[in-house]
Amino acid sequence: MANVIVVGTQWGDEGKGKIVDTISESFEAVARYQGGNNAGHTVVVGNEMVILHLVPSGILRKGKICILGNGVVVDLPALTHELNQLRRLDVKVEGNLHIGKNAHLVLPYHKILDQEREKVAVRPIGTTRRGIGPAYADKAARVGIRIGDLFNPSLFLDHLRTNVAEKQARAPKESALHTLDPEAIFSEQMTHFREVQAFLVDASVVLNTMIDDGKKILFEGAQGTLLDVDLGTYPYVTSSSATAGGACTGTGVGPTRIDGVLGVMKAYTTRVGEGPFPTELKDSTGEELRNRGGEYGATTGRPRRCGWLDAVALRFAIRVNALSTLALTKLDVLDPLPVLKICRAYRFWDQTLEEFPNETDVLKECQPMYEEIEGWKESTLGRTSIAEIPKKCRAFLDRLETILGIDISIISTGPERDQTILLPTPTLKQWGLV
Ligand code: GDP
Ligand code: IMO
Ligand code: MG
Repeated sequence: MANVIVVGTQWGDEGKGKIVDTISESFEAVARYQGGNNAGHTVVVGNEMVILHLVPSGILRKGKICILGNGVVVDLPALTHELNQLRRLDVKVEGNLHIGKNAHLVLPYHKILDQEREKVAVRPIGTTRRGIGPAYADKAARVGIRIGDLFNPSLFLDHLRTNVAEKQARAPKESALHTLDPEAIFSEQMTHFREVQAFLVDASVVLNTMIDDGKKILFEGAQGTLLDVDLGTYPYVTSSSATAGGACTGTGVGPTRIDGVLGVMKAYTTRVGEGPFPTELKDSTGEELRNRGGEYGATTGRPRRCGWLDAVALRFAIRVNALSTLALTKLDVLDPLPVLKICRAYRFWDQTLEEFPNETDVLKECQPMYEEIEGWKESTLGRTSIAEIPKKCRAFLDRLETILGIDISIISTGPERDQTILLPTPTLKQWGLV
């Protein structure tokens, strides 16, 4: 019996979607708590590959309640498009999906602002250009529009007119913002709103009532620890609270109702977009990881930057999320490599840093100090029990646990649901997963 947060421990794309889909069978509901359709969570069920951007990955499990919390930002046309795709796959949306009324909207002007800022920025972030940053900026500036506001159309139109006028007043004359017509945005948004208005709820009430009734909730994080707006590699971050703490503010479920945090880590590291990445490999090994791991963005299709595992960054993720245990994904991608490296510390000029630095300027100068481990050079693809894992691979996993000081409870050996090993660790036993 447990309510558990699933959080990315790196720069996103750790395989959170696959892990949530796999373990969601043991939970009654799955709630997204932050981010928007900048996320791309891939779930493979049989021959079907589904990429979810907004809807929680639990939707593919029959009868699971899926909730978008107030911390999520919603692009309405993107949401209705995703729902129609799911319906085409015979996934039941009606009755299963709930949307928190207080979730803010991503509106057309947010996307234009994001795109135009990225184009001219001296220091571009490499965003997904989905309007995420400007939508959260408006939320913090208290001029955002919440999805529940659309129940009062005339007030919504008023707010839209004011917001568009304010943004146009500040925009350079060549900006596409000047082409926006509030009435046209209004009617487009209302059309999409009508398709989902029956799903709107007070997410905090729904979730807390389920918990009162003894039901178990899985909280699905988007992005990853190092992309968190407060704790990540600022300014090269997203604009939401991707770490475990965000699950509380992003859903209205308080910390004492949560029983644990599962960190998802890839067996190597990837990053999309700009920003420092100490263990990045710009050589043929990086290329091999990208090819074997299919490391191309699930949202933008951009090639992901690839590199070795970074235990300094992982220990930071363990600390700031107070992780209970880890799920390690994409172990199979490392199968053919003769030697594996784990970054144990950073060399920063004449200093050795064991703690992850919070300053981007420091991080970008850090040189990784590696420990080398022999590869196993055997296939682990699709293995479902630890007994089937080669000895040298088990030695790698044991070493990782020692370095990180935390159990690895779940091992993913392929993209499919059942290509997974659940170990009988105390944490998984406590959560009722084994
Ligand atoms: P998320 O954003 O954290 O949900 O991760 P993404 O879906 O963006 O990226 C993870 C990718 O790795 C997806 O294409 C998954 O299908 C795939 N994947 C997940 N786990 C494994 C695994 O254990 N092995 C392999 N080979 N692929 C995996
Ligand atoms: P999932 O949930 C990986 C990155 C972008 C960019 C930065 C800011 O699939 O793990 P944004 O559009 O959010 O303002 O971009 O964050 N980014 C992600 N990288 N996985 C994601 O989501 C990401 N969502 C945003 O590439 O560097
Ligand atoms: Mg992703």
